[in-house]
Amino acid sequence: MKKVLVLYYSQSGQLKNVIESFISLLPDADIKVDLREIKPKIPYPYPWPFYKFFDEFPGAAHMDGCAVEEIENLEDDYDLVILGYTIWFLAPSSPIVGFMKTGQAKKLFKNKPVITLIACRDMWVMAQEKVKGLLKEVGAKLIDNVALTDQGRGIYSFATTPRWLLTGKKMLFGFFHRPVFLKVI
Ligand SMILES: Cc1cc2nc3c(=O)[nH]c(=O)nc-3n(C[C@H](O)[C@H](O)[C@H](O)COP(=O)(O)O)c2cc1C
Repeated sequence: MKKVLVLYYSQSGQLKNVIESFISLLPDADIKVDLREIKPKIPYPYPWPFYKFFDEFPGAAHMDGCAVEEIENLEDDYDLVILGYTIWFLAPSSPIVGFMKTGQAKKLFKNKPVITLIACRDMWVMAQEKVKGLLKEVGAKLIDNVALTDQGRGIYSFATTPRWLLTGKKMLFGFFHRPVFLKVI
């Protein structure tokens, strides 16, 4: 029996849904999945108040990370770690950065194969480069990446993304944000 640890941080539940769908494809008989949420010590609001959203920009872009809760009762012999993350201002979200900087992450990821799983609007390439650096720092081995981006042309996202994140409403003028599958090796 192989053991897979799945770590994620999701605010609205979009990434969580993607992860649940992803792990539902794993065969139950051969694989034990341990699904764990990364929790900031001070939760972020959703929907975001206008000023709080843009106030997050410098810290997220500079990858300061936020303080996160320690994850309890983790095992120490996972065969694979799946790291599910979203993008905040072209960087991995602050709770993911915060977690990757903890002593717990250093122990957990050392010498472990990792698959990254991204769900975001559509701009994830730069963030993935940053995550590669974070994984290298904790001695992990990135073996694959899966990215799912929202439907709709990129130009619309300048209107639809703030509308969604500041109000919680996903639809604007008939354009929907639905994840579509895009695999990157
Ligand atoms: C503060 C903030 C900044 C974001 N910046 C980006 C971005 O630069 N590129 C992108 O594709 N998506 C961006 N998003 C969208 C997220 O990556 C993600 O799709 C959305 O927040 C839903 O994730 P959830 O599962 O945590 O609710 C941003 C979201 C937030 C909250």
